[in-house]
Order: sequence, then structure tokens, then C-alpha cells
Amino acid sequence: MAEDTSIFIGASRKPDDSYQRAEELLLRYGNRHGLITGATGTGKTVSLQVLAEGFSNAGVPVFCADIKGDLSGIAMMGEAKDFLVKRAEQVKLDPYRFQEFPVIFWDLFGEQGHPIRATISEMGPLLMSRLMNLTEAQEGVMNIAFRIADEEGLLLLDLKDLQSLLANIAERADELSARYGNVTKPSVGAIQRTLLVLESQGAANFFGEPALRIADLMRTTRDGRGAVSVLAADKLMMNPRLYATFLLWLMSELFEELPEVGDLDQPKLVFFFDEAHLLFEDAPKVLVDRVEQVVRLIRSKGVGVYFVTQNPLDIPEKVLAQLGNRVQHALRAYTPREQQAVRTAAETFRPNSDFDCATAITQLATGEALVSMLEDKGVPAMVQRTLIRPPSSRLGPITPDERRKIIAESPVAGQYDQVVDRESAFEMLQKKAKEAQDAEAQAQQQNSGGSRWTIPGFDDVLGTSGRRSSNRQTVAEAAIKSVVRSVGSSVGRAIVRGILGSLARGR
Ligand SMILES: Nc1ncnc2c1ncn2[C@@H]1O[C@H](COP(=O)(O)OP(=O)(O)OP(=O)(O)O)[C@@H](O)[C@H]1O
Ligand SMILES: [Mg+2]
Repeated sequence: MAEDTSIFIGASRKPDDSYQRAEELLLRYGNRHGLITGATGTGKTVSLQVLAEGFSNAGVPVFCADIKGDLSGIAMMGEAKDFLVKRAEQVKLDPYRFQEFPVIFWDLFGEQGHPIRATISEMGPLLMSRLMNLTEAQEGVMNIAFRIADEEGLLLLDLKDLQSLLANIAERADELSARYGNVTKPSVGAIQRTLLVLESQGAANFFGEPALRIADLMRTTRDGRGAVSVLAADKLMMNPRLYATFLLWLMSELFEELPEVGDLDQPKLVFFFDEAHLLFEDAPKVLVDRVEQVVRLIRSKGVGVYFVTQNPLDIPEKVLAQLGNRVQHALRAYTPREQQAVRTAAETFRPNSDFDCATAITQLATGEALVSMLEDKGVPAMVQRTLIRPPSSRLGPITPDERRKIIAESPVAGQYDQVVDRESAFEMLQKKAKEAQDAEAQAQQQNSGGSRWTIPGFDDVLGTSGRRSSNRQTVAEAAIKSVVRSVGSSVGRAIVRGILGSLARGR
């Protein structure tokens, strides 16, 4: 087996169910994306585990979400259980070696792994609106909020930054409406309330600094294996929108940060997107279009994206068309919709005259799949009924103690554990408000003789108290702006781009 140019995934079967040949994923087409589908309990997670092991062994870092906790076993050495050994014999995996993989555990809530954070600026208005499920009008306000933050040099790092910016925007609604279009107090209020809900769901942990450095996902070990980043997603799944938005953000970060490399001998990173239907469920068309765009373009950055979901119909057609390497586990076909799904799944394969695809899909055993990988010239291979190989690492979850130990020994231990709260919009706006207040108080003192009085020649500075504070604000704004603009390119860039937002602007 040429382990250096391909990943062994199992053995295809002849019509009489005897061994046919080894089925492999060619590493040079690992960036042409993939799809793992199948009903509950049919073997999707194990197939994912097998692929992740293969990529890691080839030196390709992997990122995957662990929805049920059962993928965490990839961090531990497997055991020679009877059914696994038998499967290894069936697929002629000889020797069947056991191995533990270099895992880095991550967790948006910081409980079962290193905390993963992103700043609000990095998230951008499009994804924030999606995360909060905003209406179109509210999304318009969100866009304006990001623009104001940009123009006025207000750093948006965490939720309280966004909250205080929105409060500030509500106060200035009339002025801002005149400048940018409709900014109504009720729509700002509605966003503020949604933000509170988000906060109560634990999203506050996720927004802030230190933000995740993409480089930490791209690690390899000294013996040349790719790190397997496992995101604890069991709790995260209770907030599916946060889950989907986060993975989308991560994908777009990879897209933005990684250089163009064209086609390589093997991918630079592989990204498994489990429960992928969540990404597209009632997603607005613009977002689906962006995802389609990112998936298409990220290939040339050397990143392979593998969607895992129950049903191929969960994935929009334009995205589906880009997923080259396919593993289709069994589907049920009781209801008309299920039958439709089976037909669609069957039709996406290059047919094999040995069997009827649609029938086969409903008859596959656990850990068996219809497999079609890209072969020479990137053409999909003829579909094969394939027994998937058993994993080398442990099947099933690790214990909390094992997890703690791995987290403590991780290469990023200590780097993300402490939240850093540097000066950003919240503090800046507080300061500004205080300055305005002080000025007001001073003015009242000076004007206590009556506002009819003025000092000749100083009218533009003193004027009425209202005008003065707005003048002062402009001065303060200008100062903050210049400070922030000079802070350096990374901050500046974070403000202006907004990830998927920047794609929207750029095209
Ligand atoms: N390739 C395989 N080799 C050996 N056993 C397997 C293989 N694939 C699956 N199995 C067996 O089937 C069980 C269920 O597989 P798995 O957890 O991957 O299903 P799933 O499709 O991810 O289910 P769910 O949708 O519930 O997450 C495994 O725990 C294992 O016992
Ligand atoms: Mg599973």
C-alpha cells in the first residue's frame, strides 16, 4: 500500500461479496473535498475517524468537530477487539496496527478543551447577523454598526463592545439615519435584545481575545504527523446556530489567512464539517452563495472540506457538486422523501454495472459504504461497495481524566486559557460618554447666568451646551481614530475586513 500518496479506507466487494481490492483516497486530491453520508448508526463517525487518522499519518493537520464525544478516542491507542480484528482481516489490513494520534482538544466553552475565541470584528456583520438570526432590516443596522465602528476607530472584540456600540447608536439614531439610512431605535433595540439572548446561551465566552491563531491548527509533530484538532461540540450542539456560524467563520478564516498554493501533493489542512445540514438549514441565499464560493476557492489554498451529514439532500446542489470524494453509508427508504434521497444519492455516483446503486444504499451493513474517490485526472471513480477499515485508535470516547492529561500536555497549553480584555469599543465609549458628561457639567456651571450670554469670539466653542458636546465628540473621535489607525496592520485589518463580509465587499 502506498501510504505516502494515498489513504487506505477499506476493501471493495465483488457481487458474490468476496474481496475485490483496496479502496484509497489519493492525497493529491484530498483538497477536492468530500462527503460522508448515512443514516444514524451506519458508520459515519468511524469513517471520519479513519480518514482523519490517514491524513494525520500523512502529515496533514485535521480539524473536526466531535458532536457526541465518540470521536475523542482518536487520541488513544486502539484495542484488538474481536469485531475490529475480524474487520481488519476482511479488508486485508495486515498488519493491523494500533496507534494514538496527536490530538489538540478545543472547546468554545473552554471546558473540554482549550478555549477557542474570535473577535466580533473578525466575525463580521454577515455572520453576526446569521448567528443572531436577524431580519433584513436589522441586518442593515448591523452593517451600519460595523461601518461606524470602522470609521470611528472603535474596536469590536467582545459582546460588551457590540452592546455599548449599539447603545451609542440608539442614542444617535436620528443623526445616523440622516447619514447612513434607516437606523431606528426599535430595530437597534431588537438587536440588543437578541444579543442578550446570545449572551445567556454562553456565547460571551467565544467572543474576545486571545483569538484563535490559525497557525495553531496547522501543527505537525516532530515525527511528521498532522495534529488532529478535535472540537468538543456536544454542548455546542445545543446552540446549532453558534455551531454552524463558528465553523463557517473558521472556514472563512482559513480562506483569508492561507496563501494561494494551487494543487499540492497533499492538502495543507483538512476540515471535517459534521452535522453539516445545520450550516444550510434556513440559511439565506446570500450565505449559501458565500459558502459555495468559499468551498470552491479554498481548494487552491490546499484546504479540503469534508461534509458529514445524514442525507446528501441536506447539502445545496452547487456545494454538493464540488465534493469529490464520497462515502455513502446506508439510508432508509420508507417515506417518499427518504426514497427521493436514496435516488438522488444513487444518481450522484458513476454507476457500476455490478449492482444497482439505489438498492445497494438501502442494504449496506454497518461500517459498509458506497465509495467513490477521485482517481486519475480528478475524475470520480466508479462506485464500489466497500467495507470500511477499522480505526487504529480507540473506538468510542476517552475518559475525562485522559482528556485532562492531553489538554495539560498540549502544545498550546496556557496560550488561550486567560481572557485578555484590552481597551476596545466598550471602554472607549464609556470614556467618551464621561467626557461629554463632564463637558456638560462644566457648561452648565458657566452658563448658569443664562444661556443668552456668550463670550464674543468664542461662540463656536461654547455655543449651546448641546453643540459643544457634539464638537467635543468629533475631536475625541478623531483622536481615537488616529490612535487606532496607527496601532498596526493586524488590528486595522481586523476592523475593515469582517471575513465573509469582506468577500461580499470585494466582489
Ligand atoms: N469501519 C468500521 N469498522 C468496525 N466497526 C464499525 C465501523 N464503522 C462502524 N462500526 C460500528 O458501528 C458503530 C456505529 O458507527 P458510527 O458511530 O460511526 O455511526 P454514525 O453514522 O456516526 O452514527 P450517528 O449518526 O448516530 O452519529 C460503531 O460504534 C462501530 O461499532
Ligand atoms: Mg456519528
